Amino acid sequence: MELYKSWYVILVISLSISSFVVQVSYGFDIESLETFLHDQANRSLLKPQTGTLYNIPLPSNFTGMELSVVRLRTGSFRSRGANFSSFYIPPQLKPNPYMKRLAIVYENLGNWSSLYYKVPNYSLVAPVVGFSIYDSPNSSVIGSKKLNFSIKGDPISIWFNKIELEGKNETPKCVKFGDNGSFKLKNMTKTNGCVTKGQGHFSIVVPSQPTSPPMKKKGILLIWWLIGFCGGFIGVVSLVLAMTAMFKIVKKKKLEAMEKQSEKEVPFDSIWIGRSKMPTASMVRTQPALEQEYAP
Ligand SMILES: *[C@@H]1O[C@H](CO)[C@@H](O)[C@H](O)[C@H]1NC(C)=O
Ligand SMILES: *[C@@H]1O[C@H](CO)[C@@H](O)[C@H](O)[C@H]1NC(C)=O
Ligand SMILES: *[C@@H]1O[C@H](CO)[C@@H](O)[C@H](O)[C@H]1NC(C)=O
Ligand SMILES: *[C@@H]1O[C@H](CO)[C@@H](O)[C@H](O)[C@H]1NC(C)=O
Ligand SMILES: *[C@@H]1O[C@H](CO)[C@@H](O)[C@H](O)[C@H]1NC(C)=O
Ligand SMILES: *[C@@H]1O[C@H](CO)[C@@H](O)[C@H](O)[C@H]1NC(C)=O
Ligand SMILES: *[C@@H]1O[C@H](CO)[C@@H](O)[C@H](O)[C@H]1NC(C)=O
Repeated sequence: MELYKSWYVILVISLSISSFVVQVSYGFDIESLETFLHDQANRSLLKPQTGTLYNIPLPSNFTGMELSVVRLRTGSFRSRGANFSSFYIPPQLKPNPYMKRLAIVYENLGNWSSLYYKVPNYSLVAPVVGFSIYDSPNSSVIGSKKLNFSIKGDPISIWFNKIELEGKNETPKCVKFGDNGSFKLKNMTKTNGCVTKGQGHFSIVVPSQPTSPPMKKKGILLIWWLIGFCGGFIGVVSLVLAMTAMFKIVKKKKLEAMEKQSEKEVPFDSIWIGRSKMPTASMVRTQPALEQEYAP
């Protein structure tokens, strides 16, 4: 019974470790991508002209993504808005806190979109595009503060160059992705675009047919799962073995220490019986002092 229980625990632990390994091995983490892109923009623009959109070159293992940045004076941003990349930001937006200059970072994830962003039961039919607004101090193009803004008038409109419906007769919908993997669906506007009142990432989706994923993908997934499982399992087993060994060593040390201690304190002799050490009383024990003194 006990043995069965401990194996069950080992199995559960190794299963959870293996799923962790699988998740890590994919590594399409939105937050680290954002950090990387913003850092890239920060480093490759030294003295940009205000009002000019700059395309930021990306390393070859990001081919397919687009990144661009524009630096604006907040005053002109408020009076004229900004019409760059896939976003038309109307006038009257009020950034918070107020900084003299701001920088808008635009992203288009291109063919990487579906690796980073997923909507359950829907498939993306357009690349994911996004924008975010930062302060832009003189010392760096992209400051450390992300700015909020409030919209009183028209919302921001988003358009997509490429919507791939491929004969799907489902009605496409706009999707807005939150920071933590959350998303919100919305109808498209009459002009086949999307609108928003906040910054973030956006795309267009259609309901996906409930088809099973292609065998090849399944096979790869299975292989990853097996690798993760075996890795996790071997890890846990060796951990258990190591812990058992350590426990044994500690136990042995303790026993030895106890034996030494007992040898010091109690004037017992030991004899070996079979393989175990047994104490035997020697002939002379502690004198029964009290008894002698008060003896009549
Ligand atoms: C996206 O396309 C480019 C070529 O245009 C390619 O180099 C890159 O590997 C593709 N990325 C993905 C994730 O398929
Ligand atoms: C924004 O720019 C696009 C072209 O880049 C243009 O077609 C569109 O009319 C502009 N929108 C406004 C409101 O100026
Ligand atoms: C920032 O640079 C602009 C010119 O590029 C200059 O007019 C302004 O005084 C500078 N601000 C600070 C705080 O250095
Ligand atoms: C850009 O670089 C400056 C220093 O060079 C740094 O203070 C700032 O936090 C960086 N911005 C981002 C978004 O990494
Ligand atoms: C921006 O708004 C979010 C929530 O809407 C808040 O958590 C954050 O502190 C705000 N940032 C600034 C700079 O006001
Ligand atoms: C994710 O963030 C949104 C706001 O952007 C919030 O409404 C939602 O509760 C968050 N969800 C989780 C699971 O944290
Ligand atoms: C979205 O569109 C559907 C029809 O395509 C309509 O029934 C629904 O009321 C619309 N929702 C909103 C919020 O406009």
